[in-house]
Amino acid sequence: MPDAVSSVGEAYPAVPPDAGERSPGDGVATGTNGHAVEVIDLHKSFGSFDVLRGLNIDFVDNAVTTILGPSGTGKSVLLKHMVGLLEPDRGEVNVFGNNIWSLSENERSDMRKRFGVLFQDGALFGSMDIFDNVAFPLRKNTEMRESEIREIVTNRLAEVGLSGAATKRPNEISGGMKKRAGFARALVMRPDILLFDEPDSGLDPVRTSLLCDLIVEMHREHRGTYVVVTHDINTTRRVSDYVGVLWQGRLVYYGPMEEAMASEDPFVRQFLSGDSVGPLGME
Ligand SMILES: Nc1ncnc2c1ncn2[C@@H]1O[C@H](COP(=O)(O)OP(=O)(O)O)[C@@H](O)[C@H]1O
Ligand SMILES: [Mg+2]
Repeated sequence: MPDAVSSVGEAYPAVPPDAGERSPGDGVATGTNGHAVEVIDLHKSFGSFDVLRGLNIDFVDNAVTTILGPSGTGKSVLLKHMVGLLEPDRGEVNVFGNNIWSLSENERSDMRKRFGVLFQDGALFGSMDIFDNVAFPLRKNTEMRESEIREIVTNRLAEVGLSGAATKRPNEISGGMKKRAGFARALVMRPDILLFDEPDSGLDPVRTSLLCDLIVEMHREHRGTYVVVTHDINTTRRVSDYVGVLWQGRLVYYGPMEEAMASEDPFVRQFLSGDSVGPLGME
């Protein structure tokens, strides 16, 4: 991993975020402590199904944190809480020290603009070409002139290797290109926090590696707090500064990447080895 990783590690020695008692208000009282996002005692149920059951995790500012967990365990639900699309039943989410749900509607809307989100399928508009897809957030959220928008979009498309695809529609490009277009779009508003929901799903190992390299490169270039949800051990190894494992609505492991890779923790071992024998079972 790049040098930046170890320097981040030194700047913010990892403290197990699940350690000790936490309660709503802690984050506000203590400031952000180098954490872009603090998730405190987060509970969320849908009907009688308890998805998040007292989740505590802090996301280190300017680092890449990977979230692992079996499917259906609440990873996407967590991301939706972070960006303020879902409201907690209990607990809180603090973004740069502000509890999202104690903000006014307008403030919350401004807060959301500090996030970029890369959804699983890129979530591109089928009716627009790639250029317009990437320009969309700027046209919707800013008063920028078309000439400025053109410059930004052209730069971001070049960075993700899509200069030649600007006039193509999403259905004319490959899955890997769609992800990169989604990535370019997630970057145009210069987000402080970038969320990737299984960016490697549906990609072959080579495309996955290329996308991971791009994530690392873009992070080095633009900085920011990246949260990557994935199932893939190679993705984890390539992009992470920190690793968290989610299971049954709680964080069951958290640590710096090198530590996770060497960990004897049964959850981590099973997840990283893809073993069917271990604490992670079918539910
Ligand atoms: N809006 C919703 N309404 C009802 N159930 C939901 C909703 N969103 C998620 N769920 C349920 O919550 C659980 C966790 O979902 P999700 O976070 O998408 O899992 P994953 O870890 O695979 O991303 C799943 O059982 C899912 O069906
Ligand atoms: Mg999901």
